[in-house]
Amino acid sequence: MSNNTLTITDNRTGQTYEVPINDETIKAIDLRQVRVQADDFGLMTYDPGFTNTASCKSRITYIDGDKGILEYRGYPIEQLAEQSSFLEVAYLLIFGVLPTVDQLAHWEQRIMRHTYIHENLTDLLKTFRYDAHPMGILVSAIAAMSTLHPEAKQVHDSEVRLKQIYRILGKLPTVAAFAYRHRIGRPYNYPDSTLGYAGNFLYMLDFMGQSNYQVNPVLAHALDVLFILHADHEQNCSTSAMRGIASSEADPYSSMAGAAAALYGPLHGGANEAVLRMLREIGSVANIPGFIERVKKREVRLMGFGHRVYKNYDPRARIIKKIAYEVFEVTQKNPLLDIAIELERIALEDDYFISRKLYPNVDFYSGIIYQAMGFPEDMFPVLFALGRAPGWLAQWVEMVDDPDQKISRPRQIYLGERGRDYVAMERR
Ligand code: CMC
Repeated sequence: MSNNTLTITDNRTGQTYEVPINDETIKAIDLRQVRVQADDFGLMTYDPGFTNTASCKSRITYIDGDKGILEYRGYPIEQLAEQSSFLEVAYLLIFGVLPTVDQLAHWEQRIMRHTYIHENLTDLLKTFRYDAHPMGILVSAIAAMSTLHPEAKQVHDSEVRLKQIYRILGKLPTVAAFAYRHRIGRPYNYPDSTLGYAGNFLYMLDFMGQSNYQVNPVLAHALDVLFILHADHEQNCSTSAMRGIASSEADPYSSMAGAAAALYGPLHGGANEAVLRMLREIGSVANIPGFIERVKKREVRLMGFGHRVYKNYDPRARIIKKIAYEVFEVTQKNPLLDIAIELERIALEDDYFISRKLYPNVDFYSGIIYQAMGFPEDMFPVLFALGRAPGWLAQWVEMVDDPDQKISRPRQIYLGERGRDYVAMERR
């Protein structure tokens, strides 16, 4: 008998089954042979929230949640944050290798050539109310882009796919900047591709006709690093949404609109916004112990803490904490930082958090930096989305090319009524 198998005994029947183990995993479908009667459906697994189900094989991002390790294509996040650039990381995620000088120049040039958006899309953005949440605008704009590029439906054509990747990475910052300018009632700034990815984005957000306008290089670099830190995180909620929608062969814009919608929620990419609200509500270091008590009574969650995968310090949070100080050299120090640092200190000494292995995650400090840079809170999840876009695209390409993948279609355990007769209205 091979050692790489699992022997299962069904105590209902006494029958024994042997299922193969590959990559520390058994195939859920192998359990279907486990049945009491020949015409039974067979055994399934029940896993709400997919806490222990691998939905794909991937070569993009490696996380060791117990050790706090994050690698993109095998390269540690710390080295990429220190030495790489966001567009280089995007290339790495999508193609699996670091680009040569020429490949990177070509890649950057193609993406920056696609920063202009169709005027129809600009007109659409203008129809939103002045106080529309920019994440709602972003989700809608990405979905609307599918109507402008109908050839994107050819998801099995790698050339067509690449074109959409250039377009999406190029246009997302423009849509995000226009959404921001719309809410503050200022004219839109058209892209300047000479300024680099993050620099151009800051320019589109800020420029007001000054003759001596210059993008601050420290802030552009900080934003670039923040984008790198958010670029991929394997099968998180939004990426799973991207894969799930794209599994029906929907075009990448429609799939990515769904991914961005999943990111919007406060338990995922909306957490950075929620952290800021929480820190403001706490108000001062003196109020922290009282707040921690409320968390422990389960009245509120400590936003920016805890993670489905990390049971150790999120390596991204450590890097972000460092960047915060670089940004504060340029902007003023955000007074909420003192509250955050003390909150972290107290939480990490408290048994409630220790026993549950709850540590700061990527969102705990990112909002403090964004706020110091002048972003309104509702733009925070949009910044997360810009950073995550290459990850969504890399995972999409991997999925489309994966012969194991099928349309995403989970099973259920049906517990409802059966076989009822319809009751006429007058008899209810
Ligand atoms: N504050 C207080 N208690 C918490 C928190 C928190 N932030 N997170 C988890 N717990 C407790 C939870 O109540 C549970 O306790 P018990 O076992 O006694 O019932 C235990 O820790 C396990 O939590 P869980 O909800 O089963 O864990 P999960 O893996 O389903 O949830 C999470 C992960 C990120 C949704 C959750 O930790 C959370 O809600 N955190 C706050 C929101 C947040 O910061 N989200 C950003 C995640 S990182 C960026 C991203 O990828 O989106």
